Amino acid sequence: MASNILLALLVSARLSSSYAQEASSASYQLVKNYTGEGFFDNFEFFSGHDPTNGFVQYVDLDTANQTGLAGFASSSAFNNAVYLGVDWWSLNVTPAGRPSTRVESVDTFNHSLWIADIKHMPGGICGSWPAFWLLGSGAPWPQAGEIDIMEGINTQSVNKMVLHADTGVSVFNVTGQQHSNNTQMRGTMTSLDCSLDTAGNSGCVAEGSWKDFGTDYNAAGGSVIATEFNSDGIKIWNFQRDSVPEDIASGMPSPQNFSGSWGPPDAMFVNSGNKTTFDDHFFNLKIIFNTALCGDWIERTWNSSECASLAPTCRDYVANNPQVFKDAYWAIGGVQVYQQPNSTCMDISAPVPSIESTTTAGSSRHARHRRHAHTRRIGTL
Ligand SMILES: *[C@@H]1O[C@H](CO)[C@@H](O)[C@H](O)[C@H]1NC(C)=O
Ligand SMILES: *[C@@H]1O[C@H](CO)[C@@H](O)[C@H](O)[C@H]1NC(C)=O
Ligand SMILES: *[C@@H]1O[C@H](CO)[C@@H](O)[C@H](O)[C@H]1NC(C)=O
Ligand SMILES: *[C@@H]1O[C@H](CO)[C@@H](O)[C@H](O)[C@H]1NC(C)=O
Ligand SMILES: *[C@@H]1O[C@H](CO)[C@@H](O)[C@H](O)[C@H]1NC(C)=O
Ligand SMILES: *[C@@H]1O[C@H](CO)[C@@H](O)[C@H](O)[C@H]1NC(C)=O
Ligand SMILES: *[C@@H]1O[C@H](CO)[C@@H](O)[C@H](O)[C@H]1NC(C)=O
Ligand SMILES: *[C@@H]1O[C@H](CO)[C@@H](O)[C@H](O)[C@H]1NC(C)=O
Repeated sequence: MASNILLALLVSARLSSSYAQEASSASYQLVKNYTGEGFFDNFEFFSGHDPTNGFVQYVDLDTANQTGLAGFASSSAFNNAVYLGVDWWSLNVTPAGRPSTRVESVDTFNHSLWIADIKHMPGGICGSWPAFWLLGSGAPWPQAGEIDIMEGINTQSVNKMVLHADTGVSVFNVTGQQHSNNTQMRGTMTSLDCSLDTAGNSGCVAEGSWKDFGTDYNAAGGSVIATEFNSDGIKIWNFQRDSVPEDIASGMPSPQNFSGSWGPPDAMFVNSGNKTTFDDHFFNLKIIFNTALCGDWIERTWNSSECASLAPTCRDYVANNPQVFKDAYWAIGGVQVYQQPNSTCMDISAPVPSIESTTTAGSSRHARHRRHAHTRRIGTL
């Protein structure tokens, strides 16, 4: 495993100079770099009731820090990645549920390119429902939209990438079809209606093209995930460790030449509605990492799932088997956010703030939990 991880941002040797000619003049500029100790200055711990009704008790920063649920993964393989975990030692977690973590970025974004280095994720475990996602804010769900970059339950091994919108949003099935400049989507579109009023909670769904979730994903050292939202739509590339494009590795991502080094996206959501644009449905997006346990999706399907033989209910399983959640943690190398220079989302003519000096005013009700980053070491990974 360690040797795979060491490949982290090694450059793909497959770059061809012929692709360079496709480079667009539009280039992305770094506007946020969430990594290391600064990560916890820029994310807030959500400690309210789980909106998906899980058997989970999200803890605040102080509790997370004091109980080892948040910190840095000190094993050499993870190189001080941000650690966000689940309680894996308590037997008595009723009635509230097992302690876990959910963090949300203070900043919000519109059109952007998000690059996340995920070294380990909390999937592949019965009862777990982890997600890395973008949630629109400032309007009742899902009027500001939701983009699930990485999501799944139980022992799922293929990622689900999902959009949720309020009304009138659907996407083309671009699976296997040639698109502009010979690109095509690598994954499979399994549901095309993104709207709550017509599709319900399920949203429009693209499934990944490799074992990009859970146990196998972790064994392979995770991945680097690029999510781009622009006026063309929403695209997600999930790069295995041995094929991270050079422009990403060097901090100058350029998806305009995606027919070259980036290859086709794993998911490509292109609006098929003709009345509105994605911009009307996805805005003020916060970055969220969380690990839910049980909850609506799992409990509705537990009895027919691969996990049913383990316990009569998900809650029984989660309550009585703390040790299985030792592996239910995120190890996040970093998240970088890039925007086009003409974006109105941020004043990017100003110097890019270093992560240490970034102090964005937090108006959230969780602002009281924000503290200076801590350096607790979690040495058991
Ligand atoms: C992609 O675009 C960037 C700048 O736009 C360029 O430097 C690079 O050579 C291009 N090609 C590849 C394969 O990255
Ligand atoms: C496709 O190629 C054309 C011409 O090279 C370019 O103008 C256009 O931006 C490209 N589109 C995409 C999606 O890369
Ligand atoms: C999209 O197209 C692919 C390939 O033809 C097919 O397997 C898949 O079922 C289609 N998805 C939907 C939702 O129709
Ligand atoms: C983000 O910050 C880290 C830590 O300071 C640094 O190593 C990395 O190069 C930065 N990334 C970019 C794209 O600038
Ligand atoms: C699942 O089975 C348990 C008993 O094994 C039962 O109590 C529960 O109601 C069932 N759940 C559903 C959703 O059918
Ligand atoms: C930004 O650039 C895009 C194309 O590169 C253009 O369509 C858009 O109008 C520009 N926006 C502003 C605010 O200049
Ligand atoms: C993002 O889009 C929303 C909705 O259009 C808008 O209200 C908001 O001001 C935009 N944010 C930025 C930073 O431009
Ligand atoms: C986190 O815990 C460490 C010691 O374990 C302590 O030094 C630090 O102040 C704590 N940080 C916060 C924000 O509570």
